[in-house]
This record gives sequence, structure tokens and C-alpha cells, in this order.
Amino acid sequence: MSLSDAKRRVSELKAQIFRHNHLYYVLDEPEITDAEYDLLMRELIELEQAYPELVTADSPTQRVGGEVASGFAKVEHEIPMLSLSNAYNPQELREFDRRVRELAGEPVQYVCELKIDGLAVSLRYENGLLVRGATRGDGEVGEDITANIRTIRTVPLQLPEPLNLEVRGEAYMPKRAFLRLNAEREAVGEPLFANPRNAAAGSLRQLNPKIAAQRGLSVFVYALADTDGTRLTRHSECLEWMASLGFPVNANRKVCDTIDEAIAFVEEWAEKRRDLPYATDGMVIKVDSLAAQERLGFTAKSPRWAIAYKYAAEQAETKLLDIVLSVGRTGAVTPTAVFEPVQLAGTTVSRASLHNEDYIRQKDIRVGDTIIVQKAGDIIPEVVRSLHEQRTGEEKPFSMPEVCPQCGEPLVRLPDEAAWRCVNSSCPALIRESLIHFVSRDAMNIEGLGEQWIAQLLDHGLVRNAADLYRLRKDDLLTLDRMGEKLASNLLSSIAASKENSLERLLFGLGIRHVGEKAAKTLARELKDMDALMRSSVEELMQLRDIGPKMAESIVAYFATPAAQQLVVDLRALGVNMTYLGGTWESGGAQTSAFAGRTFVLTGTLSTMDRKLASEWVEKLGGKVTGSVSKQTDVVVAGEKAGSKLTKAEQLRDSGQKPELEIWDEAMFLDALKSAGVAY
Ligand code: IVH
Repeated sequence: MSLSDAKRRVSELKAQIFRHNHLYYVLDEPEITDAEYDLLMRELIELEQAYPELVTADSPTQRVGGEVASGFAKVEHEIPMLSLSNAYNPQELREFDRRVRELAGEPVQYVCELKIDGLAVSLRYENGLLVRGATRGDGEVGEDITANIRTIRTVPLQLPEPLNLEVRGEAYMPKRAFLRLNAEREAVGEPLFANPRNAAAGSLRQLNPKIAAQRGLSVFVYALADTDGTRLTRHSECLEWMASLGFPVNANRKVCDTIDEAIAFVEEWAEKRRDLPYATDGMVIKVDSLAAQERLGFTAKSPRWAIAYKYAAEQAETKLLDIVLSVGRTGAVTPTAVFEPVQLAGTTVSRASLHNEDYIRQKDIRVGDTIIVQKAGDIIPEVVRSLHEQRTGEEKPFSMPEVCPQCGEPLVRLPDEAAWRCVNSSCPALIRESLIHFVSRDAMNIEGLGEQWIAQLLDHGLVRNAADLYRLRKDDLLTLDRMGEKLASNLLSSIAASKENSLERLLFGLGIRHVGEKAAKTLARELKDMDALMRSSVEELMQLRDIGPKMAESIVAYFATPAAQQLVVDLRALGVNMTYLGGTWESGGAQTSAFAGRTFVLTGTLSTMDRKLASEWVEKLGGKVTGSVSKQTDVVVAGEKAGSKLTKAEQLRDSGQKPELEIWDEAMFLDALKSAGVAY
């Protein structure tokens, strides 16, 4: 093949793969099979290997995460990645200011930036291409996580100019992505992450970049590693320059003339930060002038020209009333602290997970203790510690029972797990939780059949497993408390309607360990029917996109059990559909209509992404972006400090000239993206 033919084919392939990635990852509506996709990808990889000059940084071969690494290579930071000294009150900020002015020998300005709660990363570009992403490690030597960094959609793979530079920033997991990840993990019985920072760190340390790619990570850059050779003289200019190169730079920052102004800004954000879509744990205050920074220099660990003001996580003291145990769908027995209700970061809380036995033992938490609770990353309540000094001797130490609190069968703890599990498949708690999962919205979506009805059906002995739901008759339902004719008919028709669901809902509903919604969809789409799935070996399943060994083994083990085989036979006999119907998943085409065919105007500053990226998403999802508000506009996305465009939009809407014009704030925009399958 001649170079020019190769070039043409490479660009065709790139366009096709880009489109199929979008269909698969964003719209969740692939048009081709995994095997066909792999063929396109393989052809591109082969061409790029034969003609390395055709490899571009934006090639899909560079973004989707290649091989699974066996470990991370070490990388030395030529310029060490330092940490910051901390201040916990305004007084300490004033002392910092005094030291700075003394050493700098002149008045200084400060830049205040939010301290993002994630993990520090360095990104190196050569000739404008991203060549390396690394963790901080001990500051001198970190780990090479380039493959994972490439999967973060807000990290530019290519700069608009062929520059050599290294930027530093914070990789983080947005709150929504964190909550969704934990919900997914809960659904498949995997341990939950305590906060978004741990989740981000865990995701970036995944050896398989495909997993990192699904975690919805993002990044904010906050420093240029080296400003030599640039004309920049202020840190604030560095931030602006980086933003102009396409890096995500957090917009919530301010240049202050005095420390008092900085303190006011710190205080302004103390509460406001809780409404941000990502977790923050403080404000970083940096000397703006680079010359002054140089004069101030560094101590062994941190720069003298910057300090981190740490917001105290809101904590409260309360009394631990009880530790209750719940048995989940996978049999895991989870202890939960029940305490006297307290107000924390705007809500009343009275319960917090204690995770497992080891957690309680390490913290020596006893019923009756006075405990300190806080919201981890301002989202999830946790017990920080118990005040041992306040004990009276009446407190009761906790010990995990040896038998299941629900069925009395012995609990087991697997060697590599922290959880004790009930492995009795007829445990009533397991059955109840499995049924609740089976009927849930993301699984079989049996409307109206809530937890209370399931509990009653079980108590009355009307159901013992999912198949029994399809055997229910009206007379059975009418024996339940508060059940009327009409309700019974409605329930029966939602149960009947669920028989027509596409296979993926049933697969997810069966509650096979490690099989979440996405995997269920892949299995259904690729294998088409239940029989094919039940015949597949571990090796065959692992050929499918996103199906790893753990999941493949779990699926094969599940279908090897007589109970699962019988359940499938029964469900089939009762008329439950066992084939893939394609495109019936909730997150399908319909939801993208928030964007498709509509005209958008973006105005003001968005804190999660720059406007360029926001426009790209709108366009990728089928919308059109224009620069000015008119009667043709359907949606105005108004970020912080939105000005005349927002006013005009409000006028058009409120004067009745265009009453259906929608004005979205950032949260609504992110929600719409999320519904369309884009996680931010
Ligand atoms: S500047 C030499 N700016 O906080 C200056 N750090 O406790 C290095 N962080 O390791 C840091 N947001 O991971 C800086 N706007 C921000 C930051 C920030 C978060 C993290 C960073 C650093 C840690 C220091």
C-alpha cells in the first residue's frame, strides 16, 4: 500500500472507530459487534505499526487503553512533586503572610484556588503530544500511569502547539460518578469506596486501562512544573495560559491584593464548595509573582510561597445506640452504626456503615460509646472514632455473630475478603434482597412491586423465588394487607409486562456476582440468548469486551448450580423472554433527545469543563451550538457569571416570545449528559 493510500485508510478507520466508540460508550447503542469493532481497530493498529508517521495523538489507538499492565513502571520526577504545609485557621494564614512579606521584601499578591480532593498527577507533553502521566509517589519517584491518564476525557492528548512542557494537577472523581460507581459495586456485591478520593486513586491504579476508562475520572491542572523559557511572570498567567492550551483549569479562583481579601475568599467558599460537583478539602493560597516565588524558595518538603487552608470536615459528637446487621443480596453481613440523630453538612444523619468486623475492631467501637461522626468527602457519613476516655464501663464491645442473624446458618469468611457471608441460598434475607433486586427499575422493572409487597409475599409464603412472581394469581394478591382489586390488577399487568423485557434485564436481575448492568448488556448483545450464554466457557466469555476473568468465572459458576438451571427452566416455561431484543435498554435513544436536534447556547463559566468541551459534547449528542440567543435557541446553559445572554434568554422566555426556551444551570447540564450516558 502506498503512503497516500495508507493515509486515506487510516483517516477513514479513525472516523469509523470514533463513531463506533461514541455509539458504544456514549449512546450505549452500538451498531456493530465487538468482533467487527476489533477488526477495525486491528487494521488501524497494523497500519500505524507499518507507517508510524501516521500515528497521531488523537488516534483511538491512543485513547481506549491498550494492554493490561503487569505492574506500573517507576518514573523519576525531574522536578520533585512537593506537598504543601497546612493552615487550619485565619490566624495561621496571617502568619504565613507575615513570613512571605518578610522574605519577599515587598508586598505580594496571592492567587487563591480550590484544593481539589483527589490525587496529584503530572502530565508531560513532548512536541505537543501527551507522552507520560505519572502519580506523585513519594514526590521524587512516582508510577507511570500513562495508559490510565489517556482515558480521562478532559486530559488533552494533543496541544494546539508543539510544546514541550509538564503540568501538574489533581485527578479526581466527580461526586456523581462516585455515587454511581458505588451503587454499581453494591449491586454486584463488591466493597464500596469510602470517598471519591479513594475511588479516584483506586481507579488510576487499575492495571487494566479499560476499567479506568469507565470510571468517569476528570482532572484540574494547577501548576506548570517549569516556567523557564516562557515569558510568564505570574502564577495567574500560568493558569490562564494552561487554560488557553485546552487544559481544564478550575474557574473558582481569585487573585487577591491582601491576605484579608484571601481570607474572605476562603470563607466565601467554606459553604459554597459543598454544592460543587466534585469534592474539595480546602483552598490553596499561592504567591502570584514567579520572581517572588523564586526568592522565597522551598523547605525540604514544601514551597514557602504557598499554603493549603484546610476546611474542617464538619463533625458532630453523638451516642452510639446500636450496631445492627444487615444481610445483603450476596450474603455479605454488614454492620451499621445507629446513633442519636445529628446535623451534618446540611442533613440529619443517624446511621453510618461500619463496613466490617475489622473496621470496628481497629477503632475499638462499642455500643454506648460517645462517637465522632463526619461526612467523608462531604457525602457519606462515617464514624471517625469513639471517645474512649468518656467510657463508663457500661459499653458493650461488638463481636460478629458466628451465625447469620436471619437464618441461623454459620457465616463464612473467605480468605481474601473482609466480609462475613451467609452462604445459605435459602436464607430469607438473601431471598428478599434478591427479589427486591430482580424487580428493581434497572433490572426487570416491575412497577409498583416495592419492598413492602415483596416482604408480605414472602411472609405469606406466596413466593420463594423470582419464578413464583410469574405464578401469582389475583386471589393470592388479594390476601395481602391493604391490597385492593385495582392495585392487584395493576401489579399483575406489570409482572406480565416484564416477561417481554430484553435479555439484559433478566441477566442483571438474576444477581450473578460481579455482573452489573453494563456487563449484562454486553452479554445479551453479544450472545443473543440465554442458551448461548449458559453454554459459554470462561475463555469464550473473556473474549467479549469488558468481561474479565473474575466475571467470566462467576457467570460459569452461577449457571453450574442446579438452582440457577431450574430457575431458568421455570422462567422460560412461564413465558419470560430469554433473548436479546436490542435497543430496549432505558438509557437508549430516547434519552439523548435532551440534545438531539436542539440548538444550544453556552454562556458563563462551567466549573467542571471548559466551554469548548461542553460544546463538543452537545454536538456529539446531536445538538447544535450557536453563539447568540435568538428565537431559534432551545436551551441556554448558564454557568457562573453568565451575563447578557442569560438575560436575553430570560426575556425571550418570560415575555412569551419563546416560552419553551429552557435555561439550564451546570447541574442540569451534567444531569442531561449523564442521562445521555456521559459521566462527569
Ligand atoms: S499546588 C508545590 N494547588 O494538594 C505546589 N495543590 O497538600 C504543589 N492539591 O499534593 C501543590 N488542589 O495533590 C496545589 N489547586 C491546587 C491543589 C493542590 C489540590 C493537592 C495536591 C498536593 C496536595 C498538597
